[in-house]
Amino acid sequence: MSDALLRRPELLRSEALIGGRWEDSGARYDVLNPATGACLAEVAMHGADAATHAVDAASAALPSWSSLSAGERAAILRRWHDLILDNAEDLARLMTAEQGKPLAEARGEVAYAASFLAWFAEEARRVYGTVIPGNAPGRRLTVIRQPVGVVAAITPWNFPAAMITRKVAPALAVGCTVVLKPSELTPLSALALACLGAEAGVPAGVFNVVSGDAPAIGEVLTGDPRVRKFSFTGSTPVGKMLAAKCMATVKRVSLELGGNAPFIVFDDADIDAAVAGAIASKFRNSGQTCVCANRFLVQDGIYDRFAAALARKVGLLNAGDGLAGSADQGPLINAEAVAKVERHRVDAVERGARILAQGQVSGPSQGHFARAALLVDVAPESLLAREETFGPLAGLIRFDHEEEAIRLANDTPAGLAAYIFTADHGRATRVSEALEYGMVGLNTGLISTEVAPFGGVKESGFGREGSRFGIDDYVSMKLIAAEIAPA
Ligand code: SIN
Repeated sequence: MSDALLRRPELLRSEALIGGRWEDSGARYDVLNPATGACLAEVAMHGADAATHAVDAASAALPSWSSLSAGERAAILRRWHDLILDNAEDLARLMTAEQGKPLAEARGEVAYAASFLAWFAEEARRVYGTVIPGNAPGRRLTVIRQPVGVVAAITPWNFPAAMITRKVAPALAVGCTVVLKPSELTPLSALALACLGAEAGVPAGVFNVVSGDAPAIGEVLTGDPRVRKFSFTGSTPVGKMLAAKCMATVKRVSLELGGNAPFIVFDDADIDAAVAGAIASKFRNSGQTCVCANRFLVQDGIYDRFAAALARKVGLLNAGDGLAGSADQGPLINAEAVAKVERHRVDAVERGARILAQGQVSGPSQGHFARAALLVDVAPESLLAREETFGPLAGLIRFDHEEEAIRLANDTPAGLAAYIFTADHGRATRVSEALEYGMVGLNTGLISTEVAPFGGVKESGFGREGSRFGIDDYVSMKLIAAEIAPA
């Protein structure tokens, strides 16, 4: 990768950060730009030994980090936040280069990533305990909340910075130490964040980053008994497999897994708001978010008008190199992602769907680009309605009445995010409450913020990230039941 891309070229790191030292390894792997196929960096290929070494470092750093005052830890997190914003342009360019999202979206993600550090720096001071009235004379019952210990986190490629800070900020805020394995597809953002963390004063061993052989590193992070908490964002099958491994040492686990978000448009919806929400929800990050609308359920009376209005917007979407400036969408992460979108499109058409609109592709021919598309008359049993497409393909399914919409929406093992567009307050309340999802967007296609709890139900996982509840997964409750001798 050309140094000219960055204002501070030293943010481009290619080694692991373990115990405050940048550690190389014998082997390296290529990190590729999905828009051009160019090799951006050769990153150290670490495995089980480095992961164990990182757990050693995190264990050694735990006593001193957890015994700092909350205010002292908060000051370091706040400095890290400020450094991320000071270097936002470099972080955004690195992110676009390795992940593909257009620069404007990458800048947005950098701000989103920083927001978790600011939020949890504030929350660090509010990890309150409780005093319970004694159950007998002379009894004193006190509950304190303590850091769970060493945390292992595995994060995905679709948000190479924000999914890291959403886990690491609450962990560090309460006094835990962390070993992170970022996606092998996007390690550069993680390493740049780690570099800025060290500059902010995060002590050696408190935040460690190891990348490379995912199964070998995962084996250590899920198996080592010193790791007391495991947090994963990624696919449902991998999450299930990793969580099962964690049970051998009974770790605390949180999982943020795949979704299959329904986007329900009722006859009485504000059509402009619904179309704007659909574009924001479906095409953010080229359709590569766990909360992207995956199935559009549209009521009969508004179906044709909504389809026509959405088609006009989809037809304007241009996929290109996110660094070039004019792209609304970047490439998908790799060739398999493009092939999955194509498989879903072909399957839907074979079951009777029609293509109503398609966007353009203007990126290099080596890039993994998928044309944005809108399909109508999609059968509910189509692949695109049953599996998470994770790409820029929107499919409309027609429904007649409210109960039918709820039944179709809940007919999936997933339960992460759902969206409703309606002007009827009673319906909004009924349907929000009936949807089996962890998050519901009501007349909005954007629900993510550091101040609100993010997480799912059913096979989309458990645990909540962000908000005041995001602290809970990183602390254990301890009861101190005391017998006070009479005077
Ligand atoms: C995700 O796709 O997992 C995260 C999306 C978000 O935070 O909005």
